[in-house]
Amino acid sequence: MPDTLKLKTNRGKNLGKILVTSALPYANGDIHIGHLVEYIQTDIYVRFLRLTGKDVIYICASDAHGTPIEINASKRGITPQELVEEFHLRHLEDFSRYDVSFDEFYTTDSPENQYHSETIYSRAKEKGHVSVRDIEQFYCEPCGRFLPDRFIRGACPKCGAADQYGDVCESCGATYRPTEVLDARCAICGAPPTLRTSKHFFFRLIDFNDFLTAWTSEPGRLQQEIRSFVQNWIDQGLQDWDISRDGPYFGFKIPGEQDKYFYVWLDAPIGYIAATEHYCKTRSDSTCEDYWIDPDASVEIHHFIGKDIAYFHTLFWPAMLKAAGYRLPDHIHVHGFLTVDSRKMSKSRGTFITARLFADCLSTWYLRYYYATKLGNSIDDLDLNLEEFVNRTNAELINNITNLVSRTIGFLNKRLESTLGKIPADVQDLIRDVEASVNRVHENYLSLRFNNVTRDILSISDMANNFVQQRAPWTSIKSDPERCRDDLTFVVNCIKILTVLLKPILPSYCKNVEKILGLGDLKWNDTGFDLENRPIGIFEKLLDRLEPGVMEKLIESSRESLTQKHASSTEKSPAFKDEITIEDFAALDLRAGKILSAEDVEGSDKLLKLEVDLGQERRTIFAGIKSSYSPSDLVGSTVAVVCNLKPRKMRFGTSYGMVLAAALQNGKAILCRINNDVPPGAPIK
Ligand code: 2FM
Ligand code: ZN
Repeated sequence: MPDTLKLKTNRGKNLGKILVTSALPYANGDIHIGHLVEYIQTDIYVRFLRLTGKDVIYICASDAHGTPIEINASKRGITPQELVEEFHLRHLEDFSRYDVSFDEFYTTDSPENQYHSETIYSRAKEKGHVSVRDIEQFYCEPCGRFLPDRFIRGACPKCGAADQYGDVCESCGATYRPTEVLDARCAICGAPPTLRTSKHFFFRLIDFNDFLTAWTSEPGRLQQEIRSFVQNWIDQGLQDWDISRDGPYFGFKIPGEQDKYFYVWLDAPIGYIAATEHYCKTRSDSTCEDYWIDPDASVEIHHFIGKDIAYFHTLFWPAMLKAAGYRLPDHIHVHGFLTVDSRKMSKSRGTFITARLFADCLSTWYLRYYYATKLGNSIDDLDLNLEEFVNRTNAELINNITNLVSRTIGFLNKRLESTLGKIPADVQDLIRDVEASVNRVHENYLSLRFNNVTRDILSISDMANNFVQQRAPWTSIKSDPERCRDDLTFVVNCIKILTVLLKPILPSYCKNVEKILGLGDLKWNDTGFDLENRPIGIFEKLLDRLEPGVMEKLIESSRESLTQKHASSTEKSPAFKDEITIEDFAALDLRAGKILSAEDVEGSDKLLKLEVDLGQERRTIFAGIKSSYSPSDLVGSTVAVVCNLKPRKMRFGTSYGMVLAAALQNGKAILCRINNDVPPGAPIK
């Protein structure tokens, strides 16, 4: 056990710690405005807790493992670790532009995660919760790998639509098994897959049936809508969960097994624990054990997730933790998906907007504010309506809140020496209203109803704007300047309170307002009417209004950047070579050759040594196809051979000719096989 997991005995108990997580983003592509719903939601909650003085940490990490990452890395000719590092850094940059304030953003490809994954697995296994059996799966010979459902393409067995995934048809929505797909092909190389058997490990979820039924029904654990889904899943019967994958796979090896790896979804949530451990080791007095194991420590764990991964977090995850004796999460907060103008985000429509592009075009504050206005504690989808986005930003954030600050502080700067007076006696009713709003905002932050929070913030801002209109400082400054100063002192107090309430949603904006007010880092306790007889700072511009057409421009840029990316990713084959004459071509002596034997070449990880029958003679040919074929795949195959290539001396011997193969982007090769009826030595013309 690493040192950090040993109990620290000199710690106090009842520390009241809160650990909050967002789902771990795959380190395999840019995050987009859909992902941001969750990070912004979680960040607002965490910032609210910090503002109220809670001991909270916000933990996240890159989700580093799995087949897509391994294949993408191989396509780009880099290691999976390099790909993960690249996206880890890009994600960190993106998150910081949106003021997402992780205390830790680690990676699942870490020693801590390996340790906890192995621990959880072996404890579950010891207790009999892991079973082993053979399963039959599609396997691609040229690629040398089992194919996950997403890596099978073919026609939908229900509606016949061509080129669908191996598990779901995007045309008719049907779901099916990959073996049902018509004319199934490997999505990587296009070859038809074969069925192969292999040993897999299963987590016996059914062993936790009673526990999960009770645990998921505890009040406050899940939103009601999610509880109904979970109950339904349990009622339908909990199935064993396949937690292993065969190599090649980017992940952790299963201890004691050959070429078997933990499925990415086993170690992904364990990444929450590993990231906590890294945080504790590097910048905390607490230990990972305080958070995840010690039953006496006072800790609350909150996970924020999208509804697509609710099954993992409400069933597999608690069962794994229970099996291994770790602490269970207290709350799982589920949100819906983002739609844009009521439709699914789409690359072709340009609504699949990356976080990066949005931030390059517009202030990220707009998005944080808009999402807050839309987020209730519900799993319903949340719509980014482009017209509403502009109108609401301008009406609420600019005309209402920002203008209140600029007109009030501007006036005090210009006409009243930037100095406050005292709060007038006749605003007691208004103060009581504000206090009631502050209490509601507190409740609504806690219950994740940020839409209600913004409503209350706006009502305070509205009230303050109306107050300015009624008191007309531009008139009273002439008749009774001290009365005018006192009126604006009340308004400045409203602005300060608004700023506190808005801080979780717009931290950077509020920091600028704090500076304008001449105040330091405000906390929740600063929601009183207590700013009197003191100087304030100078107004500085806060935020521009959104111009008409701005969203259309953004969508257009997004569409352009996505089509460019698409063009470069479909540009798979190298440019054509210069033309040759028919005579040049005739100079090639191409013939059918039958592979008589094939063997590995000691010391080479690329070459296979082939003995090829060319009719009138046999030749030894070294072929760089080891990563695509094993020797036994080849014997008996008839292939195309260049016979008049000058013999080439290599470190391992001389090669007398060349076999032809298609060279794929992922570095793999597919031999140009010829029908076996063609006799060895027959010329190819
Ligand atoms: O669905 C996803 O994007 C996953 N990468 C989320 C993982 S969350 C947790 F379980 F690690
Ligand atoms: Zn393949």
